[in-house]
Amino acid sequence: MNDKNLSGEVYYPGKEIIDNATINDWDALNKKANEDYLGFWEDKAKELHWFSKWEKVLDDSQKPFFKWFTGAKTNISYNCLDIHVKTYRRNKLALVWEGEKGESETMSYYRLHQETCRFANILKSMGVVKGDRVTIYMGRIPEIVIAMLACARIGAIHSVVYGGFSVESLHERIEDSQSKVLIVADGAYQRGKIVPLKDIADEALQRAGGIEHVIVVRRTGQPVNMEFGRDMWYHELKHLPIATNDCALEIMDSEDPLFILYTSGTTGKPKAILHTHGGYQVGVYTSLKYVFDIKEEDRYWCAADPGWITGHSYIVYGPLLNGATSFMYEGAPNFPYPNRYWQMIEKYGINILYTSPTAIRGLMRFGDAWVNRHNLSSLRLLGSVGEPINPEAWKWYYKTVGKEKCPIMDTWWQTETGMFMITPMPCVPLKPGSGTKPFPGLQFDILNEAGESVKSDEEGYLVIKNPWPSMIRTLWGDSEKYVQQYWSKYPGYYLTGDSARRDKDGYYWIIGRVDDVIKVSGYRLGTAEIESALVSHRSVAEAAAIGLPHEIKGNAIYCYVILKSGQTPSNELMEELRLHVGHEVGPIAKPEQIKFVDSLPKTRSGKIMRRVLKAQELGLDPGNLSTLEE
Ligand code: PRX
Repeated sequence: MNDKNLSGEVYYPGKEIIDNATINDWDALNKKANEDYLGFWEDKAKELHWFSKWEKVLDDSQKPFFKWFTGAKTNISYNCLDIHVKTYRRNKLALVWEGEKGESETMSYYRLHQETCRFANILKSMGVVKGDRVTIYMGRIPEIVIAMLACARIGAIHSVVYGGFSVESLHERIEDSQSKVLIVADGAYQRGKIVPLKDIADEALQRAGGIEHVIVVRRTGQPVNMEFGRDMWYHELKHLPIATNDCALEIMDSEDPLFILYTSGTTGKPKAILHTHGGYQVGVYTSLKYVFDIKEEDRYWCAADPGWITGHSYIVYGPLLNGATSFMYEGAPNFPYPNRYWQMIEKYGINILYTSPTAIRGLMRFGDAWVNRHNLSSLRLLGSVGEPINPEAWKWYYKTVGKEKCPIMDTWWQTETGMFMITPMPCVPLKPGSGTKPFPGLQFDILNEAGESVKSDEEGYLVIKNPWPSMIRTLWGDSEKYVQQYWSKYPGYYLTGDSARRDKDGYYWIIGRVDDVIKVSGYRLGTAEIESALVSHRSVAEAAAIGLPHEIKGNAIYCYVILKSGQTPSNELMEELRLHVGHEVGPIAKPEQIKFVDSLPKTRSGKIMRRVLKAQELGLDPGNLSTLEE
């Protein structure tokens, strides 16, 4: 990639960036990783602490159930906290936080370790043991980080549910995971309003059984219902004698589960992706180190939410494994004014900003003046994730925010991959809208229906041909579906669910999902979740949801509804249905528009043909209609 003659519009990194980058010869690193793939990962693993070493780097005897660093003993929380507390990083800030109302808090590694231990002791006192599931439902506050680390410390499996999800989504996830404990905040601030998380949780718990204890973190202070014997305030528990500052950690096998995270797949209800203690930390630690090139003195800001994989890997675990200082902001990007991000970058001296195309497009809309009011000279690197970034937004980000000196790391990856998979590094020449090339050592391909590699610039299914340490291990409780969803279309290859093309220079361009997943503002939703929320409404007989292009959000949700007989279409009913989806799934899933129809295009076996609806809306050719019923 040192090639100076790349085709198309190319942005070459400046000399200073290359000179200062940890990896300044991508080709050499890539060559090394390809020549000895397992040796490459083994070397990276050696940079972390292990209680005892692995027997094997990769065990692929039960494909596609790959295992990494088998036989090794570890605990990710040790490498995130304990190791740093023993060094000069003890008093270094691990976390810098700003609330939406402007208050701020900082936490050193020393204190984060203590807080984690206290929380872990509280969980232990409630009978939580290794392997138990704990659901976490909070906004972006430091306690969510503490809660996740506390679970990891005692070997409990956390299942974080994004605070933008609502009653049914939370219910489903609690029930499917069979969590014993729920950790919830009383509420979350979002655009100056309070999201009543505890009220939502109460409603979800009326539908779900199994939760024995609810730990309530006070954030907003609004009155909430506390059920006697079940609900307890965190700030009270924290001061009990059991909540001491030390908590021996559970020694975990490399392949023991660390967390499950629900995400939407091809069909049906969201399934939980399972990640483990060993391989996950190696992948996340290495990828963050190389791609965002974090320096000891940096302030790094990943503006995602801890409730999604981006937050798990690159707000919580990745930065802490690297001993970095991570900044976290609670609220909306344009609250109270569109300069909120720029103001905080200046105030905290942020060096690295990692956000989503939707946030960039949303802020771009307000014009350059809001950005230019602030001194953003601390910025060195920018990042983008979650959906394809259109070249116009890329260039605005590059020029107006990064002042043409900060390379943009457009990272393609997934909940399933755990870590960045197609991504530049600071020394790599960039093309706006392309994530450049696979992370060193990873083998990707783009295939046609018949499983043959497509030619340059042709579109096809994006697949991964070799395993990687932080890969999904299985779907929680459904290993059959794991095999079927990811490994059966092209046996031996991991199917990403995305379509992509590769140009003559070997650069990858992601086009988007080719399944029933809709990316709305970078958030991953399934058509099935939205449809089942609609049919749970008393007036709806059948429903279909599709994603259509949207200028800011990337995609927006459009729904088609057949009403039950006796129900009459009206604007009021449409609004009621939108609110119903918001209440059941979450505000992010609210349809942009709902159309009342008399029939839906279906296959003879009764499957809704969403691609026909989509083609109709976009005025495109619907493709093969031979399976369409009369
Ligand atoms: O379609 C791709 C899109 O997000 C999907 C994965 O979603 P999720 O599991 O929620 O993880 C999002 C954050 C890692 C992918 O299948 N996607 C993610 N990053 C990019 C992207 N599409 C284009 N460019 C990206 N950089």
